[in-house]
Amino acid sequence: MPQLARRMGRAKPSAIMLVAEKARQLKAQGRDIISFSIGVPNFLPGAHVYEAARIALERDSGQYGSNRGTDALLDAFLKHIESAGLTGYTRAHCATGIGAKHVLYNLCEALLDEGDGFAFATPYWTTYVDIGEIVGARIQLLPCPPEQDYKLVPDQLEAALASKPKIFLFNNPANPTGMVYTREEISALADVVARHPDTWIITDDIYHRMVFDGVGYHNFLHARPELRERVIFVDSLSKTYGMPGWRVGFMAGPEAVARAVTTLNSNHITNVPEVATAAAIAAFDGPQDVPAAKVVEFQARRDQVMAALESIPGLVCPMPRGAFYAFPDVSVAFGRTHTPTGLRIESDVDLCNALLEAKGVACVPGSAFGEPRALRISYTCPEAQLAPGLQRFREFFAELA
Ligand SMILES: Cc1ncc(COP(=O)(O)O)c(C=O)c1O
Repeated sequence: MPQLARRMGRAKPSAIMLVAEKARQLKAQGRDIISFSIGVPNFLPGAHVYEAARIALERDSGQYGSNRGTDALLDAFLKHIESAGLTGYTRAHCATGIGAKHVLYNLCEALLDEGDGFAFATPYWTTYVDIGEIVGARIQLLPCPPEQDYKLVPDQLEAALASKPKIFLFNNPANPTGMVYTREEISALADVVARHPDTWIITDDIYHRMVFDGVGYHNFLHARPELRERVIFVDSLSKTYGMPGWRVGFMAGPEAVARAVTTLNSNHITNVPEVATAAAIAAFDGPQDVPAAKVVEFQARRDQVMAALESIPGLVCPMPRGAFYAFPDVSVAFGRTHTPTGLRIESDVDLCNALLEAKGVACVPGSAFGEPRALRISYTCPEAQLAPGLQRFREFFAELA
């Protein structure tokens, strides 16, 4: 029988999806499950987005579209990033894709040859490793443990960039930790980046509108505009506008990179579909009240989650300042037993399994993100489930001996 390509030996199904699948199975068996597992925003965009999609359906040309993205979509994106302080870009600097995940995949295809260094912080969004492995990159993990608030520090970045990785990928606000870098932190890291001209910098900033506590959103480009010839900004509708299923992602960066991504599009997706394009334009150009209200709501939820976590002795959770995740260090539970069920906990995976079995609460083990001492709580579940889910979480820890 013919074989799959060798690269498929390196491709793994998403660990996050495996937890979600187990939770779904238990639910199907009639169990009362509260899911803190999937990173979806769990709200719908405003009515104007659906209206734009309906109109687009009526006018649908039925034709192939632009490999880069339509002019109207690129213009809407350009206006959107201008409001984040990223100015001076034109359509030629931009490209679109089927979600940010696809854009990131394209960028890795476009920039990495086999064996090239691909550096990013741990904890990381799982997909970075998966894409890196599929394209045959040499992954360089930069460990950022809870003791350093899950954040990269300049000396660490300096040491990593000295080995000239082809790409340094930076995620701010971060999934899975919710960490947000301050202006000063970004500026110090940008100084390091500026000293290493052989490395492309991808900033995966798809959560940049979801920042709390007035910390603000900062990009290397704000600190050092001259980095523009090497920085590639990645964005998406998914989280900001509650539109993960619409699959529209973006990049802005050097023209040659945008051209390369467009060429790749021409060889697989061809174009972002017309109806999704119309919905995306409406999301960017229309009223921003839904995303604005969600940031306020998520900050209040963050407070609720942190209050619960802080009440658990021995559990440590650096304060998330953005996105919709908390990433507590739960290693205090290792080596203990959940007394009512007799389930023994030696690892993050044991803990997540026991929590799901005993309390019906689904979280993702930290090892999926490269930090086996932690687990991820995604707190966008229906409002009525948040307090009971947190209560069960606390009960679980209280029942450990
Ligand atoms: C850090 C990060 N980057 C990119 C993505 C992908 O987003 P999209 O839905 O646009 O593909 C996600 C989705 O979870 C994410 O958390």
